[in-house]
This record gives sequence, C-alpha cells and structure tokens, in this order.
Amino acid sequence: MNQPGRPAHTAGANPVAIANGRDSAEEPLIFEQGQEQRCGVDLPALPAYQQRLAGLRRQGKIGLPGLSEPQVVRHYTRLSQKNFSIDGNFYPLGSCTMKHNPRLNEKLARLQGFADLHPMQPIVTVQGALELIDQLAYWLKTLTGMPAVAMSQAAGAQGEFCGMAVIKAALAARGETRTKVLAPESAHGTNPATAAALGFVVESIPANAQGRVDLEVFKAKLGPDVAAIMLTNPNTCGLFERDMLEIAQAIHAAGAYFYCDGANFNAIVGRVRPADLGVDAMHINLHKTFSTPHGGGGPGSGPVVLSAELARFAPLPYVIRDETGFKLVEHGKDAPDSIGRLKGFHGQMGMFIRALAYMLSHGADGLWQVSGDAVLNANYILASLKDVMTASFEGPVMHEALFDDRFLKDTGVTTLDLAKALLDEGIHPMTMYFPLVVHGAMLIEPTETESRETLDTFIATMRRLAEHARSGDVEWFQQAPRHTPLRRLDETLAARHPVLRWTAP
Ligand SMILES: Cc1ncc(COP(=O)(O)O)c(C=O)c1O
Repeated sequence: MNQPGRPAHTAGANPVAIANGRDSAEEPLIFEQGQEQRCGVDLPALPAYQQRLAGLRRQGKIGLPGLSEPQVVRHYTRLSQKNFSIDGNFYPLGSCTMKHNPRLNEKLARLQGFADLHPMQPIVTVQGALELIDQLAYWLKTLTGMPAVAMSQAAGAQGEFCGMAVIKAALAARGETRTKVLAPESAHGTNPATAAALGFVVESIPANAQGRVDLEVFKAKLGPDVAAIMLTNPNTCGLFERDMLEIAQAIHAAGAYFYCDGANFNAIVGRVRPADLGVDAMHINLHKTFSTPHGGGGPGSGPVVLSAELARFAPLPYVIRDETGFKLVEHGKDAPDSIGRLKGFHGQMGMFIRALAYMLSHGADGLWQVSGDAVLNANYILASLKDVMTASFEGPVMHEALFDDRFLKDTGVTTLDLAKALLDEGIHPMTMYFPLVVHGAMLIEPTETESRETLDTFIATMRRLAEHARSGDVEWFQQAPRHTPLRRLDETLAARHPVLRWTAP
C-alpha cells in the first residue's frame, strides 16, 4: 500500500512497480510481471481424446500471467524473504504461540499416502487415515481426561463455536433456553464473538487484583438464565485460574455448563487434565500445543473434547471402529442429537498428521517436558525483565509473561513504538495491547522451543530498548522501523479501504 512519507528506495528500482505507482520496496504482482505471449513450459499438442470435451472446452483465455520459470521462482523467493517468519526469527507473540514446526512432521504430512488422499475415496481405501484420526483422538482424550472429542473444526475459534453449539443443543434437549454466557474481561475476543454468534448475551466478569476471575462477582452473576461460563485457563494474562474447581462446582450448581478455552493447553499438557477440573467442553488449538503451522488464519485445527453428557451432540462426521474396521457416522439418522456438520469432511488431515507426529515423537514424558520448558522460559523472561519493565501481575506465570506500559510513563514512547523498534532488531514484536485488562499490554510468549541463547539475546535487547526509552529519545522510536521493506503503514486506511483485487490497467 502507498504510504505517505515513506522514503523512496532507489537501489534495484523496479520499473514495473514504479510504472504502477509504487516504489521498488514493493514486489510487483505476478500479473503485472506477466507477458501475453510468454509461457514457462512447453505444452504438448492436445491429444486426440481431449476432443471428447467437445463444446465444453474453454473458449477464451482465463488471464493467467505468462512468465518464465526463473521469473516465477524469483518472484516467490523475493516474497518469502519479505516475510517475518518463525523459521527466520524469534517470534515471541503472546497468546498466539508461534513455535517451531518440526521438519519431521512436515515430512510425514507430505507422504504420498496422506497427501494424495481425497475425502470422497471409498472407505476401504482410507482405513489408515481413519486410524490416524482415531489415534489422535485417543491421545487428545487421554491427555485431557475427557471421554469424547470432536475433530473436524478448522480452527480454535470454530472449536469454540462447536463446543458452545453443543452446549446450546444440550440445553435445548433439557427443554431450557438460557440466554446468558459469562466471560472474563481478559477473554480472547473469539470467546464473546462465539457466544454472540450463537445468540447468547455476553456478560463480562472483571479480573481481580491478581489477574484472575473475580469469584464473588462471578457467583453473583449466576442464575437460571446463565447457559455457561467461557473461561480460558491458563488465562490470557499467563496465569493459572486457581479457583477452577470452585468455579466448576458453582456453575454446575446453577445448572449451567463449564466451557474452557483450552488454547493455552501448551502450558499444562501432561500435567493437568481438564476433566479433573470439572470442565464440560474445551477446544484445543493444535498449532499452539502440538506445533502444527500457524499462519494466515489457517488451515488450522481446533478439536473439542466433550464430557460424556455432551458427547451425543458432537458434530458429524466422526470415526468409529467395529470388528470389520473403521467406519464413519455421517448422517443425522445415525446420530439424531448431533448438531450436524461444521465442515465438509473430517477437518484438516494435514494438521492431524503433524500433531500426532509431535505427540508420538515426544511421548507422554516428552509432552510433560514441553509444558515445563514453556513455563520455565516464560518465567525466565519475567524474572530477567521485571526490573526494567513493569510486570502486570505477581509471578510466577505459566507460558507467557505480561507487562504493561507503566515503565514508559512520561517518556512519550508507546507500546507500539517499542514493538516497531524490535522489528529493527530482527525480533518479531510481542502481542501488543492485549489483554485489555492492563494498559499498553505487552504479552510475551517465548514457547518451549527457544534456546537459552535466543532468550538471552531477546532479554538484552528489551533491556536496551527499555533504557533507551527512558532516556527520552522519542524521535528515535517514532522513526522505527528503519530496516523493514515497508515502514509504518497506515493501518486505518488498510482496514477501511483494503485493496483485495487487482484490475488490469
Ligand atoms: C486464548 C485463545 N482462544 C482462542 C483462540 C482462537 O484460535 P484460532 O486462532 O485457532 O481460531 C486463540 C488463538 O490463538 C487463543 O489464544
């Protein structure tokens, strides 16, 4: 996007980009680089049998760009180099858990027998794939202690939708229409959005001085109109909700359900079973806990574990096994209480393969170590920075450390400025301004996959930036980032006037 005040880059100026009103920092679209008559491959003459297509053959051009192979390779390589990625840099984005994607998982997901599967193949030809789904389901049930799991959801957010739709169906089966869902004010935005999308009224529960659910306020809000609480544990301040058992007991006594946002399961996997905390339904983000790729909003996977009472409402299709092999329950007639399909088929097979590979390569002991290392790394960062930055809550924390902007008071430097300065240091900024319960939040999640050296470099950088901010050099911060392909974007313009489609000049 064009941005006022951005310095013009002249080295390697790209005539196509300049002709289109952009400077060379931007890679021209592949369509802008294409030539009408060029083709990167030599296609053979149409074989005779193609004539059978008769009148169905394409009559006109479909507007594909014509480029040589090197042009295509260079275009995509240049684009990939502009990306800030977990493979290139430290990426301590709190709440999002950007962790290394083991190459073993990638290799397994690309095996021909998996990669070339089609969801409409005859069932006898996909027994191995169904067994893999069944095994992953077994691990998820074992690790959470829950008796059932719905696998098809394409993301954590869709998992939430599934869990809450199941709860709504269970209430309807009881002949009840409860209208309210309680959600702590530190909740991920997808929680209230999910409840609202299902027609519930969302009521917020404030955090107490320790960053956890205010138990008294929560109890005061309980009543016959409350359908469920949606509670994230560990929560988005990186803290374990110590009153889980009491919350579960109170919500059940009110006849409502306990939905747990289990996105942060990576902090407790192998150590705590949500079933033992009284949870009725909980989604798990495979990308956060089991290292599947997290990018661009998908393809993701958000399985939902369910209590025995809620299991019959699970979405279709699901895998079952009898003495003749794996089978599918696909139709409402075989599962009359099911909420129906949330997705065309079983969900993201590629993510299932990667997640199971991660589980099997770590084993139960290894997963115990995963959560231990994630928590250790977050506390190392908290302990190393709390004298120069302001920690929002007393530690120890779980998988992420939350700071606010009190240490920037009267400096003129903002959380955003600090984040932009980090980009110049080759580090992806932490999550900013979330959770909303503290001012100018900086939520840092190192994950278990980072080495001590990487953490030390990050800590040294943050200390230097925090001290520089205190020196009052606002101008220096406001000029950051200086070394990225694009500098500060007009985010309001980008949000209000997104340019999503290229039109030929
Ligand atoms: C606490 C929490 N809940 C829900 C979600 C939504 O998950 P997804 O991005 O997979 O839709 C996230 C995202 O990482 C999260 O951190």
